[in-house]
Amino acid sequence: MRPDEGNPVDQRDDNAGGFGMTPERPAAGHGARAPEPLTIRLRAAMAAARYHGVELDLKTFQAEPNEASPSPATLVRWLDDQGMVARGMHLKWRYLVRMHNTPPIVLMFKDGSAGLFISAEPNRGIVWLRDPMAGESEPMIAVDELRLSQVWTGDVLLVRRARSESEAETPVDVRWLSRVVMRERKSLRDIMLASMVLSVLTILPALIMMQVLNKVIGEHSVATLFSITMILVVISFYETLLTYARRELVLVMTARIDSRISIHAFNRLLALPLEYFERQQAGNVIGRVMAIYKVRDFMTGGLLRTFLDMFTLVLILPFLFFLSSTLAWMVLAAAGAIGLIVVIFMGPVAYYVGRVTGAETDRGSVLYESIAGIRTLKTLALEPARRQEWDEKTAEVTRWKLAAGRMSNWPQTIIMPIEMFISRGIMLVGAYLALEDTTGTGSVTAGSLVAFMMLGGRVAQPLVGFARLLEDFTEVRSSLGEVGSVLNQPTETRALTTGMRPKILGALSFLDVDFSYPGSPNKALDAVNFEIPAGTSLGVVGRSGSGKSTITRLLQGVSRNYTGYLKLDGVDMREINLNHLRRSFGVVLQDNFLFRGTIRDNITAGRPGLTLDDVVRAARLAGAEEFIERMPAGYETFIEEGSTNISGGQKQRLAIARALISDPKLLILDEATSALDPESEALVNANLARMAKGRTMVIVSHRLSSLVDCDLILVMEQGKVNDIAPHNVLVERCAIYRQLWLQQNRHMNAERNAGPAPMLAEGD
Ligand SMILES: Nc1ncnc2c1ncn2[C@@H]1O[C@H](COP(=O)(O)OP(=O)(O)OP(=O)(O)O)[C@@H](O)[C@H]1O
Ligand SMILES: [Mg+2]
Repeated sequence: MRPDEGNPVDQRDDNAGGFGMTPERPAAGHGARAPEPLTIRLRAAMAAARYHGVELDLKTFQAEPNEASPSPATLVRWLDDQGMVARGMHLKWRYLVRMHNTPPIVLMFKDGSAGLFISAEPNRGIVWLRDPMAGESEPMIAVDELRLSQVWTGDVLLVRRARSESEAETPVDVRWLSRVVMRERKSLRDIMLASMVLSVLTILPALIMMQVLNKVIGEHSVATLFSITMILVVISFYETLLTYARRELVLVMTARIDSRISIHAFNRLLALPLEYFERQQAGNVIGRVMAIYKVRDFMTGGLLRTFLDMFTLVLILPFLFFLSSTLAWMVLAAAGAIGLIVVIFMGPVAYYVGRVTGAETDRGSVLYESIAGIRTLKTLALEPARRQEWDEKTAEVTRWKLAAGRMSNWPQTIIMPIEMFISRGIMLVGAYLALEDTTGTGSVTAGSLVAFMMLGGRVAQPLVGFARLLEDFTEVRSSLGEVGSVLNQPTETRALTTGMRPKILGALSFLDVDFSYPGSPNKALDAVNFEIPAGTSLGVVGRSGSGKSTITRLLQGVSRNYTGYLKLDGVDMREINLNHLRRSFGVVLQDNFLFRGTIRDNITAGRPGLTLDDVVRAARLAGAEEFIERMPAGYETFIEEGSTNISGGQKQRLAIARALISDPKLLILDEATSALDPESEALVNANLARMAKGRTMVIVSHRLSSLVDCDLILVMEQGKVNDIAPHNVLVERCAIYRQLWLQQNRHMNAERNAGPAPMLAEGD
């Protein structure tokens, strides 16, 4: 690939100061600055972002520990956080050299630095690079394959601007759909062109047929027949080719529209706040989101087909008038009548179709719930009850389906004679006209009648199709409404993409925090005030329903409509970027969801840049190492759906490892050990102290014995802070805590009975 004209290339390269060839890197044309590889990569990423009009702030970059220069994965995370879309890839020279007209690409160099790929000249076998540390006015450097291979790892970073927030925020509605389609206008134009040519090609055979009937048969001309045959063959050939091309175009376009719709829908779904899902039945949400596929089918099926048919119509119609205006008017009138009937019945049919969709969604919920809760269902022998519910819902679906079918049977029945008229009646009328027409004006001949018959159907079809389309459209609008009722809820996108990204240490303070759940008259948190420095392990105790989990929810930013202030390292939580916040947190709940996949995948949970060493370290800290190693495939053991092949305690420890692996500055354990057997619990508890090193921990637990060693224990009572102090202080002065403590330690209570301390504190 390397051209022999490499010499001038090399020279220019040398002029620029050995681009990225040596770790010391004499700075190109600049002062005697010798920047670290770390900054070079960041600068390269910044330059790539600047091209897209985004100015990145170097200060927001947080280097990964034990990474001398940022890996592509780290850079991707940084850029993603800053509202860019970045992707790391491994590229071969032969692909790189063919990339022109691309935005700048960051090339990763072996010494930890980077270069900016600007453009390429494949025929000269060179690529043009720019030194990220040099200004934009500095000349670019040409590099050929050999030179590049000496420095380049083959990794690249593609950077582009994230779809603007407004686009991600676009509600799912008709306007959005039309915009999705309009983005394909280039393909649409090509498809339209192909369709027009195809329409012309379909007219020709009819025309020829007319000639055959009129001339060949009328005048016994074999020569004409021969040439007509040749023309027909050629036309058929082109028609086949064009049809193939059009189908291909349609396929690509519909695939693109399809994926755009799916991606947008899922993005919006994931951007919905957790609170929304808590309020909704999962089955119902699924059913309604799935309605988007009806919309998709409409867009890429009926709509497109009718749209293309319309072109045929526009082209063929004048031709029909040319053949016989009387017959053409008749066809139009008949098609118009059909359209009218369809439109008249549209409303009632749409009503029934809407009821069918609703009933199907309801039934879907039953199915979803039965499968999700199959364990409970089976163990409690609830099958008959569920079956009855299913039967009822099915009956409902059937009822509405039948009604909808009956309703749409009417227009179809009324339309039928008109359709028959178009296909058969026209022929009779035409024949009559031909008989009448013996005077020789020649307006309707046998040939033109046959030609008319061949094309007439093609006119009626799109007209009827158009009316049907209106009918479909009402259905699609109702589907779109269903989808929109889920996806157009307010999302967290703004909080996820904007806000500060401070370095999190873990000091927490609650200032007069009041919170009640939506729709609930009672305050779940009532003037909560407390403060803990970074690195504290905080136990939270209190009766059931006292607001312990609510505190952890506010910390995670699940619920944000509280009053008062919640500060993290002195910064108002509401101003912190939600993604950043959640990434700096680890959370383990009482019941955690493990995904289908290996143990290792579950612990890394798809976070980039984690090695097996990290996994092992996290597992050890969580007390999971010992059982994982006893498993036949170790870290590669596959966890089945619903984690059926591991025990509850094992699952819990994996969840803890998963939370620990990213070394969160704040770890929240909400009843994380409640489901563990005493032995596993002891294992986890023994590790708690080690886990707590270097981070703030919030541990909610009913078992006070696991909280004894916490720096501070917060006692909640009916949404209020009752007390906060270390264990031995609380035992002395907090009545609620002491009561809980005594309840759980009756055996010790007996021994201590003689001790006066608890009794003394009673009056506090
Ligand atoms: N999603 C919700 N919607 C409405 N009210 C809720 C919701 N979650 C909790 N609550 C109410 O808020 C109050 C505090 O609940 P919270 O879950 O914080 O209690 P808890 O101390 O964690 O209890 P437990 O020890 O049983 O887990 C309770 O009165 C509860 O009924
Ligand atoms: Mg709770």
